[in-house]
Amino acid sequence: MNLIDAYREYNKLDIYPYHMPGHKRNTELCQLDNPYAIDYTEIDGLDDLREAQAHPGRGTLLDDAMRRASRIFGSKYSFYLVGGSTSGLICSILACTRRWDRVLIPRNCHKSVYNALALASLRPVYIYPSVDEQIGIYANLRPEDVERALTEYPDIKLVVTVSPTFYGVVSDIAEIAEVCHAHNVPLMVDEAHGPHLGLSPYFPDSAVHQGADIVVQSLHKTLPVLTQTSVLHVCSDRVDHEAVSRTIAIIESSSPSFVLVASADQCMDLLEKRGPELFDIYDQRLHQFSEDMRALKHLTVLCNGKDTINQHPNIYRYDHGKILISTRGTNMTGAQLYHLLLDKYRLQMEMCLADMVLAMTSIADTQEGFDRLRDALLEIDASLEDGKPGERFMLKQHTFEVSPLSPDEAYALPGEFVKPEQAVGRIAREFVYAYPPGVPYFVPGELIDKNTMDTIMRMESSDIRLISTRHKYPELIEVCIKR
Ligand SMILES: Cc1ncc(COP(=O)(O)O)c(C=O)c1O
Repeated sequence: MNLIDAYREYNKLDIYPYHMPGHKRNTELCQLDNPYAIDYTEIDGLDDLREAQAHPGRGTLLDDAMRRASRIFGSKYSFYLVGGSTSGLICSILACTRRWDRVLIPRNCHKSVYNALALASLRPVYIYPSVDEQIGIYANLRPEDVERALTEYPDIKLVVTVSPTFYGVVSDIAEIAEVCHAHNVPLMVDEAHGPHLGLSPYFPDSAVHQGADIVVQSLHKTLPVLTQTSVLHVCSDRVDHEAVSRTIAIIESSSPSFVLVASADQCMDLLEKRGPELFDIYDQRLHQFSEDMRALKHLTVLCNGKDTINQHPNIYRYDHGKILISTRGTNMTGAQLYHLLLDKYRLQMEMCLADMVLAMTSIADTQEGFDRLRDALLEIDASLEDGKPGERFMLKQHTFEVSPLSPDEAYALPGEFVKPEQAVGRIAREFVYAYPPGVPYFVPGELIDKNTMDTIMRMESSDIRLISTRHKYPELIEVCIKR
């Protein structure tokens, strides 16, 4: 079967998408012409995305489109990207640093951030955010921890943050920005999961309005836009527009897809014409869903139903567009809930970990979709019993570390494959992560510690599949051989 036929067959299965992309294949809301009819290249009259990005203000078609996005999101200038936030994060880091610079990186960042470190030969200081003990996820990056790191390492040239996280945790960006600016350091925010922030009062405000200097959003994650389409917002004079446009021209394709850019622009049309109405309906559906979750007796939905943000002192704000269901304290694992939702209720979730399942929502979700998830969760909950308290992984928090080698130094060394138990005490030469979310447990250049190794080995036994860059994990892991 060819790919298109496979996708068409899948569409017939009536499996409801609680995953990205944010358009949810809702073809009533999202319409675009046949892609072949609008797939252009840089021809006369239709402009060149890279030229428009290099010379804003010339009033070309594409420059006008990006200026409209900038007005809607409230940035100084916005660059459309066709390589996802992966390319946006790499471009931003490259544009804001010079070779060998020191940068502050929260250790719950997406793998593209560590790849940027390797590409730009940067020296990371890794900072560990606070932990939410009830659910077992990384919570806020605390401004006071950023302050401590910047005081101890005054040569830090860029602070990176991720907010919202993959799980929906939003940090106090305004306060973190103040701390950074007091040290004369720009703040970059990975807001890949937050293009909908700031578009409705139901959600926390966007980092673009909170003093961040450069912000990257995956439009395709939570808005009705085709996959891979992202936007990079320059928000202050601390970021050099010319450097950003130069790095985009290096990292991204020299033939950016007109179809993807048209899909982003179509979404801006929708937001201008129907944004308040669509967000109103979406907010009401999320609110009603949360109310319905009050009936749960065993499962917990983070910051929904009886669970409120007051029970999570380390979570500054929560993005209600995410639905994080915890099975902790029940007789069901995250993987079991995930498979039950798919096999019996035809609900495809975004991901699961040992004791949680994540659903992602957007303005393109339907009432029928919300009803199906509500009914499924209430029915499953009624069949559950109390279980053993879930295993608690000891995540490091409120500390910072300089790893023995930076990622590019690790790549420069020869490597060897060893069994995971023998890797403890050695320096990683590859990533090990679950995808999604793509936050690595080990990063090249880091010391492999026993606690993390034990944690990930236990994950395998809870049906959680981990991936390593060299694809030999869990049998083998690549470590550096020191010269
Ligand atoms: C926090 C975070 N940042 C960046 C990315 C990369 O985004 P994209 O898939 O648009 O390249 C992801 C992907 O899941 C992510 O979770």
